Amino acid sequence: VITDSVVLAGSVTMRPAEPGDAAALCLAFRRNRGHLRPWDPDRGEEFYTVEAQQGRLRDLAVQRDAGRTMSWLLVEGDTVVGSIMLSSIARGPLSSAVLGYWIDAGHTGRGLATAAAGRACSFADEQLGLHRLEAGTLPSNSASQAVLAKCGFVRYGLAPRYLHIAGQWRDHVLFQKILNDLPPR
Ligand SMILES: CC(C)(COP(=O)(O)OP(=O)(O)OC[C@H]1O[C@@H](n2cnc3c(N)ncnc32)[C@H](O)[C@@H]1OP(=O)(O)O)[C@@H](O)C(=O)NCCC(=O)NCCS
Repeated sequence: VITDSVVLAGSVTMRPAEPGDAAALCLAFRRNRGHLRPWDPDRGEEFYTVEAQQGRLRDLAVQRDAGRTMSWLLVEGDTVVGSIMLSSIARGPLSSAVLGYWIDAGHTGRGLATAAAGRACSFADEQLGLHRLEAGTLPSNSASQAVLAKCGFVRYGLAPRYLHIAGQWRDHVLFQKILNDLPPR
């Protein structure tokens, strides 16, 4: 259950993102601007302000209350070292959500993304009762593909010109993980 805080590895914990995290999250995005640029949508200058992050986090809190999104931060002390999210949560016959994540450049290669994704999968299965999770990566994102494979995701397709990332519509490799075959909640 991840509605509180769980230790992921060493002194890094995973807990739900809150509007009060805006300043620390803003610092993390500034620190990781170059690291995330190849994998993220284009961000304007405005994105790197505390006000913009506060707005995003408030919006995520509204979406969480509506059951559409679940968003966690990975924190070490007062520092945000990563983020992971279940978005586009769909109920009924689809019972699915989209998984996304990033890890601070100074903390990669320690298994944090794999541990966080594993927790998010358990949450989606046990707490949300979803049937399936989906994730997409750029074809060149070997690290993210390794994370998904380690968490039991299976590649099921290639979507041409799927997402606008780093300034262009880019192909994405699509992965899914079946969580259970229970009837929709
Ligand atoms: C992708 C990302 C989240 C991985 O985070 P992480 O905490 O380093 O991931 P983990 O340590 O759990 O696992 C990384 C795996 O990728 C592997 N890996 C790393 N770089 C690699 C590369 N260039 N080629 C192949 N595999 C690679 C590691 O060896 C490891 O696998 P292993 O445990 O089998 O050795 C992180 O690099 C990141 O934030 N990248 C930028 C944003 C991003 O790509 N987000 C995902 C968008 S789909």
